[in-house]
Amino acid sequence: TVIVLDFGGQYNQLIARRVRECSVYCEVLPYKTPLDEILAKNPIGIIFTGGPNSVYLENSPKVEKKIFQQGIPVLGICYGTQLMAHILGGHVTSPEKREYGKTHTYYHTDCALFQGLPEEGISWMSHTDYIDRLPEGFKVSAHTADCPTAAMENPKEKLYGMQFHPEVLHTQNGISMLRNFLFNVCGAKGDWTMGDYAKNTIHTLREKIGDGKVLLALSGGVDSSVAAALLSKAVGNQLTCIFVDHGFMRKNEGDEVQAAFKDRNINFVRVNAKERFLCKLAGISDPETKRKMIGEEFIRVFEDEAKKIGKVDYLVQGTIYPDVIESGAGDAAVIKSHHNVGGLPDYVDFKEIIEPLRLLFKDEVRALGKELGLPDYLVYRQPFPGPGLAIRIIGEITENKLLTLQEADWIFREEIAKAGLDRSINQYFAVLTNMRSVGVMGDGRTYDYTIALRAVTTTDFMTADWAHIPYDVLEAASNRIVNEVRGINRVCYDITSKPPATIEWE
Ligand code: XMP
Repeated sequence: TVIVLDFGGQYNQLIARRVRECSVYCEVLPYKTPLDEILAKNPIGIIFTGGPNSVYLENSPKVEKKIFQQGIPVLGICYGTQLMAHILGGHVTSPEKREYGKTHTYYHTDCALFQGLPEEGISWMSHTDYIDRLPEGFKVSAHTADCPTAAMENPKEKLYGMQFHPEVLHTQNGISMLRNFLFNVCGAKGDWTMGDYAKNTIHTLREKIGDGKVLLALSGGVDSSVAAALLSKAVGNQLTCIFVDHGFMRKNEGDEVQAAFKDRNINFVRVNAKERFLCKLAGISDPETKRKMIGEEFIRVFEDEAKKIGKVDYLVQGTIYPDVIESGAGDAAVIKSHHNVGGLPDYVDFKEIIEPLRLLFKDEVRALGKELGLPDYLVYRQPFPGPGLAIRIIGEITENKLLTLQEADWIFREEIAKAGLDRSINQYFAVLTNMRSVGVMGDGRTYDYTIALRAVTTTDFMTADWAHIPYDVLEAASNRIVNEVRGINRVCYDITSKPPATIEWE
């Protein structure tokens, strides 16, 4: 185990993730964790994260000096390295000029951290303070124009520090530096796998839950599906999954979700609520009203089902790490009300919430899903908005429009998959516009709806580019949609990026 000791920096989980990427198991613990508890985990190394404070302030986070005297390698990053210097008798100061962003850095490649790497390169700096006097036994192992101690080392005591952030991709070779620490200094084996993670998590969940009852709202998305698979392995039929099928899923999707869980020993409840939702939404065309009504109705349907089960002990949520960061992001303007982000159902009687994926990034969640035996069509599912196709039908929703859109969307997805683009385009779908235009088919006039195709590439879904799909793929999709889907006589491709557009149309 490697312990990542958290001092409140913004990249803490990213450090943990980098360690896991090196196939080394790691746990993030708060800096206040008593030393005994840390030692009880038999760590092969400890990494101190960055943090927003200055070490010389009275209330800034500290650790006991003894942590450096255990013979366990310690790597300090940013605040972590300053803290190490401060506690061990060095000096930290606040210079006139702060360093922020990409910074040219010179490395001493005889330091274990930089062994085998170039002698200079770009590192990512984000600090005000720096170390101006090293503790005894330390020497400088990297510097920049403005920072004399960009890295320091005391190889005898296995203590290392970096002022910059090796965990972010802006630092060239940063990951190799972490790798050097883990393998050269800590002697990590690098044999940890997602399978181990699954096994440990299942074990921990089992111990925690005992014979308690667990409830999970399954949306069919990657996160809730992986959470369900994890819980099913941990507690079997103590778990009830309620899958509210609002009818706005893509073609066949409701059945696919059900099929994926059919052989698991859990209580799987699928509520077919399409009629109920269609009734509720009849005549509604304002996007925000649609979203709000769907969100509310969703809760009501879920509540009705949950009532039948009665009191449960635990409610499971498929929150993943990026959700945790985003929900802490403050008072950003509401562009769209996302109905399944962080919404806490206080209408269900439960003791405690369990979020088993809270520390994982999306690709790790997918890897875990594979490990737990979920089918690819669930694990690699593209993001799908909670309100589903309802917000891809512009204007009033009818059952007819819903079926039309499902068909068109299905064809587009088939063509994208056929062209081998389904993993490289991050999200792609069809939108049923509320616009009709004149066409000619056979010898007759048509007056039908227009389908818009949307496909984007993005890493974080906060900004996105429209995907440069080859014309022949667009052509094939367009031909098939107009020929095979009744009520459609025109297809457009959306070539707007986000911003200024959003990914979804509503
Ligand atoms: P926008 O349209 O805001 O979408 O650019 C960004 C990403 O979020 C998805 N999205 C949602 N996801 N609940 C969700 O879980 C929602 O209500 C919702 N609305 C949009 C959208 O599909 C895209 O991936």
